[in-house]
Formats: sequence, structure tokens, C-alpha cells
Amino acid sequence: MDDSRITTPEYLWEDDNEVVIRPRYFSEYTGQQQVKENVEIFVKAALGRGEALDHVLLYGPPGLGKTTLATIIANELNVNIRVTSGPAIGRPGDLAAIISDLQERDILFIDEIHRLNRTVEEVLYPAMEDFCIDIVTGKGPGAKSLRLPLPPFTLIGATTRAGMLAAPLRDRFGVICRLEYYSDKELLSIIRRSAKIFNVPIDEGGAIEISKRARGTPRIANRLLRRLRDFAEVKGNGIVTREIAAEGLSMLGVDEIGLDYTDRKMMLAMLEKYDGGPVGLDNIAASISESIDTIEDVCEPYLMQIGFIQRTPRGRLATAAAWDYFKLKPRRNLIPPGAEKKTQGSLF
Ligand SMILES: Nc1ncnc2c1ncn2[C@@H]1O[C@H](COP(=O)(O)OP(=O)(O)OP(=O)(O)O)[C@@H](O)[C@H]1O
Ligand SMILES: [Mg+2]
Repeated sequence: MDDSRITTPEYLWEDDNEVVIRPRYFSEYTGQQQVKENVEIFVKAALGRGEALDHVLLYGPPGLGKTTLATIIANELNVNIRVTSGPAIGRPGDLAAIISDLQERDILFIDEIHRLNRTVEEVLYPAMEDFCIDIVTGKGPGAKSLRLPLPPFTLIGATTRAGMLAAPLRDRFGVICRLEYYSDKELLSIIRRSAKIFNVPIDEGGAIEISKRARGTPRIANRLLRRLRDFAEVKGNGIVTREIAAEGLSMLGVDEIGLDYTDRKMMLAMLEKYDGGPVGLDNIAASISESIDTIEDVCEPYLMQIGFIQRTPRGRLATAAAWDYFKLKPRRNLIPPGAEKKTQGSLF
């Protein structure tokens, strides 16, 4: 694997043991307090009435726990969950087949729901709203439309891009939740829990160091923890201490505030090539040969969260905090040599 991607919040093959540590109930799900409280109320109400839960849309950057929350909801409701994704459903018939197979109150989880194609979306509208699907039989003038009733079910959609969802689709979700980056403290408790499950010897300093560098993302925290276990075995006495964590993470290209190679490359391009902006995301992406999707889904949300980038109508702008962190100075504010005296002089 390319180590420059070690802190990507996107799913990697090495995360395949995520299932083991994935929380199964609300009680194991750390953080996201507001979302959790909200969803818990809806779940209790649905259970109380014996009805299907309202459709839920979960959105936010990768690795923050959308899939996890969907499976927790299914567990708490004690119903089946059928997992699929936007790109996996090619034709309306594929979706019809999946939906008509659901039992009452079951959950249909559609990941990357913003990538559903329009014709498939159209099957989803009546299914979500009236619990039925329209099936067209035959072709041309002889075609007949047949309306089939469905058992009431719950659709849980997940997306990193709520803005890309068609309005009629978005409007059909009764519960819309935005997942936020985790605080260091929340990550710390996630790391402690994962260390216990994975049996990783770690001290408090080691756990704190990882929590500060995990980009507010549980998936990254868990991955760094596993990487550091190997590092501690080879370079230390097997215990993930603060020193081991700091050294190991620096070697993996993760800096003190969790920025990885791509984040830094993006910030440096903005600061050095575009003098801090404003600059369009497409220009940034092109200048560092990254895909615009990675920039938009992964880098930008976190860099905005820590206050390094601002969105303006004319493009992205680097903040003073970013200039400070990279120990650089904007060119345009530098007073050209010689002009300094004049400027000062005019003040007196
Ligand atoms: N609140 C949480 N508490 C503890 N662990 C969590 C929490 N949220 C996520 N995790 C851990 O992080 C991993 C990644 O979470 P998950 O797969 O749910 O992210 P996601 O938002 O669906 O990401 P993607 O956008 O890539 O699909 C989970 O396997 C789980 O171990
Ligand atoms: Mg997911």
C-alpha cells in the first residue's frame, strides 16, 4: 500500500477487520451526541408503535460512522438490514428486485446514495412515499403499468455529498443527520476500546498521541492503532507509548495535527502556488494531480474543520492559521524592498 494514504478516511483493504470493532449498539457508539439522541428517540417511537422507522439520511465525510450507525439502528430495531450502494444498482429492475424482497420494517441501506441514477431514483420515490412500486410490462402502446404494494420498510441512505442529492429524494427522508468529526476526547475512548478488542498494549500517552493525529476520524484512529502495534513490536518493547506513537506516526507521514501527505500537498499548493487563493478546487486538484473527489470529500472538509481553509464565492481561501502553521507568509502582503521606508515614513 502507498503509505501516503495511511490517513485516508476512506476504506482500505487493511481495514477488513473493521467488522470486529464496529459498535453494534448505541451504547457502544461514542460521540455524535446530537445525532445519537435524535435517532434513539425515533427508534424508540417506532418500536413503541410497532411501525417502520422513518427514512433516514446520514451524511458526512468518510469514516465517521455512517454504515456503523445504520447497522446499529437495525440491531436496535431488531430487524434485517439489506446493504447495497448507489453505483451497484444499475437499473430500475435491480432496485425493484431488492425492495420487493424486503420484509415488514426491514432496513434497506443504500451507501453512496448520491450516485443512484435518475431512472432508479424514480422507482425509489413511490417506494419511499407510498410503499409501492410501479412495474411496466410490455413495450410501446401496449405497455401496462402495474402498481405493487410493498411492506412498510425503512430506507437509510448514506452519502458524503448531501449537496449532490436531488431535492425530491432529499425531501423524502424524515430524519436527516449530519455526522461531525470527533473530538480528541471521543477518539481517545474509541482508541481505548479498540485497543482492548485488538489486545494492543498501549499506555495513556500513546492513546492521546493517536487521538490528536487521527483527523477526527474513528476509521483512521483504528488503522493507526494497528499500524503502531507493529511499530511498537519492532522498535520498542511492544507497548504503544507516546514516544513510539509520535515516532511511528511521523514515519507514516502523519504530522502533529493529523495532516497527511495529501493534505499538506494541497495546503502548500494553495499557499505557494496560489498565494493563499481564492482558488477553485478543480485548479488545486489539477495542480497536485489529485482527484477532485478526494479533495472535496476528504481533504477540504477536514481542512475547513480545523480552520485552515475558508469557502468564498470566488474559491477557497487559506486562513492566517494555515499560513502560520506552514510558517509561510503571503507574498501580496509583503512590502516590496525599498517601499518599506516610504510606507513607514508616510505614517509620521
Ligand atoms: N461512533 C463510533 N464509535 C466507535 N467506533 C466508530 C464510531 N464510528 C465509526 N467507528 C469505527 O470506524 C469505522 C468506520 O466507520 P463506518 O464504516 O461506519 O464509516 P462510514 O461513515 O460509513 O464511512 P464511508 O463514508 O467510507 O462509508 C467502523 O468500523 C468503526 O469501527
Ligand atoms: Mg460506510
